[in-house]
Amino acid sequence: MPSSSTLRIHELTSEERAVYATLKPEGLPQHVAIIMDGNGRWAGRRSLKRFLGHQRGARSVQLVTETASRIGLPWLTLYAFSLENNLRRPRAEVSFLMRLLKSYLESNLQRMMDNNVRMRYIGRTHDLPAEVQDKMSWVEDATARNTGTTLTLALNYGGRSELVDAFRKLAAEVRQKHTPLDHITEQDIHRHLYTAHMPDPDLLIRTSGELRISNFLLWQIAYAEIFVTERLWPDFSGIHLLEAIAAFQQRERRYGGLGEDCGEVEEDPEHIHIAAS
Ligand code: FPP
Repeated sequence: MPSSSTLRIHELTSEERAVYATLKPEGLPQHVAIIMDGNGRWAGRRSLKRFLGHQRGARSVQLVTETASRIGLPWLTLYAFSLENNLRRPRAEVSFLMRLLKSYLESNLQRMMDNNVRMRYIGRTHDLPAEVQDKMSWVEDATARNTGTTLTLALNYGGRSELVDAFRKLAAEVRQKHTPLDHITEQDIHRHLYTAHMPDPDLLIRTSGELRISNFLLWQIAYAEIFVTERLWPDFSGIHLLEAIAAFQQRERRYGGLGEDCGEVEEDPEHIHIAAS
């Protein structure tokens, strides 16, 4: 539970406060990850060019981040640009997204500071244009001492390539330390992921209704609750984050164990005859 000094509930809108009032503060997720989808459809439904959808999507990034920081959410991770986007989208769209990211970082730094937001990145970011990487480092450094929400942008990110990168690093370590292979644990893999410094997401939100994971945080979402909304990303804002958290709090998380409505537990099932099927 966030300490009350980090909460800025009074800064929520009155509509947000009404949803927040229904939440159990002790049951807030620690880490929310979002697949931001639907920018193109948002534009298409208004007969606008796709880039305007991305521009509106950038506004949602800021709004959602600010609400997250006001409620003391420790970790927010947004899928902003996948490896597949980089390889498969028209060059003009990729280059627009890069310019949008740069301009977003420049123009939102002050708001991130005001909201005590710390900026981090995951993905093969070394393959992004140098001027984008410079801006990314500039914001990461400037926000490094902030203690509120850590906003992680997944950029040039793919879940499978993250696993490849992790296994390569682990293999090098195993070779150097002569570790017996049967000593490798899940924790060893976790240590080499881009996300080693953060807890796994408790809640994964996807906008625009698709029922897909799209190569996002494949290892980390093993036990995440998934919330899919038809709402397109440019129409998603802080109140929708709070609604998703309210739905999350209705879920019973079992991690493979038994739930409340699991039927009578048989103390000694030895005597039960298993009929041939
Ligand atoms: C999906 O919409 C979204 C993306 C490809 C990238 C997400 C980018 C943003 C939210 C804007 C920029 C972000 C930052 C951090 C400045 P889509 O184009 O796949 O939508 P569609 O499926 O409707 O075509």
